[in-house]
Amino acid sequence: PQRVIVDVDTGIDDSLALVFLLASPDAEILGIASTAGNVGVDRVAANNLGWLDLCRAPDIEVAVGSTLPLVIPLVTTEDTHGPHGIGYAELPPSARPLSTRSASDMWVDLARKHPGDAVGLVTGPLTNLALALRKEPALPQLLKRLVIMGGAFNYAGNTKPTTEWNISVDPEAAKIVFDAFSAAPADRRPIVCSLDITETIEMKSEHLERLARRAGSVPAETISVDEDATVRSRASNPLIRQLSDAVRFYMEFHRDHDQGFLSHMHDPFAAAVALDPSLVRTKPATVDVELTGTLTRGMTVADLAGMWGREPNVDIASQTDPAAFFDLLIERVGSFAGE
Ligand code: BDR
Ligand code: CA
Repeated sequence: PQRVIVDVDTGIDDSLALVFLLASPDAEILGIASTAGNVGVDRVAANNLGWLDLCRAPDIEVAVGSTLPLVIPLVTTEDTHGPHGIGYAELPPSARPLSTRSASDMWVDLARKHPGDAVGLVTGPLTNLALALRKEPALPQLLKRLVIMGGAFNYAGNTKPTTEWNISVDPEAAKIVFDAFSAAPADRRPIVCSLDITETIEMKSEHLERLARRAGSVPAETISVDEDATVRSRASNPLIRQLSDAVRFYMEFHRDHDQGFLSHMHDPFAAAVALDPSLVRTKPATVDVELTGTLTRGMTVADLAGMWGREPNVDIASQTDPAAFFDLLIERVGSFAGE
């Protein structure tokens, strides 16, 4: 299986990403780094442990990262992800211990232990990875590949007009990470799954229904999640119920922001790409992060035509088949939950 170092700010869609990886026979999670973002870092770590419990996962290291972004204060987004970061899901406190090493130390140690073998997946702000790069500047050579959910290249952000959330929380960290890959050979360039592609990954009620049906837990009509926001996720399967309760909150958020009764599966999509890069077509680009613009701070700017005269430092995911992604997600998570 593909070894993966995961870095998350769990997070509703981060939760799905974690469960997807746990459900994937071709993935081995080496460690989970918790980063402050959607909610505070302690809550993120607690959520990570909670999902491991619910999935009856073996011991997987969960490390805690910095409580703050590198330079600016932390902004969290309970509006989007719920008071605890997992929507309406409720996970009891876990008895699993947290790692004694910091998230950035864990990144460095795991990458050194598995040189050229581990894929890094970041679905939160890039704080931990930036700190890890300060400790081990050779990380870009030690990782097999890095997959990042973050950025918005086609102007429209989701946090500020031109800025995506993960970059917005810690733009300085994002710049450190993108700059660190400026000399990366083509096969080591990070794959960036920006909003331009992840917003085409729309999870709807029908997907949740298919998921429950695949898990064989209850007849589909008893778990439907519909627009009147009634709690209908009464699936007897605890994992399916909690996932549906998490996602329902996210769907309500998207509906309240005129995006329809659906939710964007940013992070699970990036997780799928980490396991199988052939899910996306990519375009090489030189990406930099705006740090000083008074209106555009945190914007990811992509040079696709070599105008800056700098080598490409990322591959931007530019095309995919969302239906194929949902088939994969539903098959893996559904069969795993039904086990
Ligand atoms: C990203 O922001 C977070 O709220 C989501 O979990 C995702 O990682 C999308 O912009
Ligand atoms: Ca996230």
